[in-house]
Amino acid sequence: MDLDSPEYKAYQSILEAHRDLKALVRQIDEALAARTRTIVELSRLLARLGDRLVKHFAMEEDGGYFAEALTHAPQLVARANALLAQHPMMCTQAKALLIDLQSTRGQEEWWEETSQRFRAFKAELLKHEMREDKLLQEAYTQDIGSHD
Ligand SMILES: [Fe+2]
Ligand SMILES: [Fe+2]
Repeated sequence: MDLDSPEYKAYQSILEAHRDLKALVRQIDEALAARTRTIVELSRLLARLGDRLVKHFAMEEDGGYFAEALTHAPQLVARANALLAQHPMMCTQAKALLIDLQSTRGQEEWWEETSQRFRAFKAELLKHEMREDKLLQEAYTQDIGSHD
């Protein structure tokens, strides 16, 4: 793989976007566990996550890196499509967390319930991103192999 190629750069930029997303998710997770943030601060973090997810998913759906990487590995297309199909539900879940947060008064039960829901959301999102990393890695590895 040519390290200066647009495909390789797109691949690297998606890995970087995944690292940024993971860092933000970790920040929210820690804030929920520590309970040291205000509801307003938590709302800002969740809003930031929601915005970032919308942009990130749009970038992936735009065809850019997926289409490029998979051109060389068409057998991976079904897996890519299955991953793309998970985006709307994850966006809805992120938005629902934010809406519920804005209507709360911050009682004990709410913290516990929100923490649980966020942990479930986090697990799903991280699994999704990990599968994408793996898919892209396979696509690029096969691409390199095909040029040997
Ligand atoms: Fe995705
Ligand atoms: Fe992703």
